[in-house]
Amino acid sequence: MEQDFLPINGTDYIEFYVGNAKQSCLFYQHCFGFELIAYAGPETGVRDRVSYVVKQNKIRFVFTTSLISESEIANHVKKHGDGVKVLALWVDDAASSFHETTLRGAESVQSPISQQDEFGSVVTASIKTYGETIHTFVERKNYSGVFFPGFKAAKSNFQSSQIGLKHVDHCVGNVELGQMNRWVDFYEKVMGFKLLITFDDSDISTEYSALMSKVVSNGNGYIKFPINEPAHGKKKSQIEEYLEFYNGPGVQHIAIATDDIVATVAELRKRGIEFLRVPDTYYENILDRVGTINEDLQDLKSQNILIDRDEEGYLLQIFTKPIQDRPTLFFEIIERNGAKSFGKGNFKALFESIEREQALRGNL
Ligand code: FE2
Repeated sequence: MEQDFLPINGTDYIEFYVGNAKQSCLFYQHCFGFELIAYAGPETGVRDRVSYVVKQNKIRFVFTTSLISESEIANHVKKHGDGVKVLALWVDDAASSFHETTLRGAESVQSPISQQDEFGSVVTASIKTYGETIHTFVERKNYSGVFFPGFKAAKSNFQSSQIGLKHVDHCVGNVELGQMNRWVDFYEKVMGFKLLITFDDSDISTEYSALMSKVVSNGNGYIKFPINEPAHGKKKSQIEEYLEFYNGPGVQHIAIATDDIVATVAELRKRGIEFLRVPDTYYENILDRVGTINEDLQDLKSQNILIDRDEEGYLLQIFTKPIQDRPTLFFEIIERNGAKSFGKGNFKALFESIEREQALRGNL
């Protein structure tokens, strides 16, 4: 078997550029059960920005806001609204990851740099992906601090309680019409990923709109990136709506794994998170399609959780409404019981639900 030139241990962190990191940080603590662990800003010697790091099990999110009007961060927020800037990948050798990918055509954002403090050193390097999104390679094997040099450990007055979010399952990108294959090529050639699945508009179309999607994955399968592009339909595709309001390609949704989706979703609802709804008719004869499941169907129905099955098992999933005012980024909560796929059997019901929301916004 050929050598994996880009071994990845998992998602290191996801960084969001936002208009008000202090409030985003509290939102994710309060609503999603994250815990504040680190902070960088004027108090730590950073003059032009603040960043808050929150954590839950293996998931780390960073929220960053510019303190000055003219900066890359401020311009990013002006153009895109709140959104994902960095999909950081945890590697053993950041310099080699940078070298191997730029050798194969990746565009450099930052060549490898090592940062030190009393807890050791972290090496990072970054390359471009779709839109203004970047991948940062993070090598932290010689570091024992809470996040990065330059950050100090932080604690919130807010007593957060976890809601069972375990790890990032997959991150989906939306790109322009005709660009999906270019980015699948990028992940295959530059990053050494493999094409897992292709969905065309016969899989993913409703009466109104359609999209195409291909899923790429790294060697060990820990990183999965579905890439969507709009397809022609009678009305505006949900992907076109995203591209219009995000002002270009970017991260559409982050799927987070849980071991108990009924409890996790019930708690999220209690804390104010809103989900897309499928009609009750979705649950009629659902077991004929998906077979036996361990959960009580009534529990799934009461939380409006979707079910799908593939050759290897079944999965349970649900999607939030956009988590900022622009109809851009949203979250998926997913519980896998063997299934390695993405819920193809739910696409139609789901997209009809998205289109109902689009219509309410006047964007269909
Ligand atoms: Fe997904």
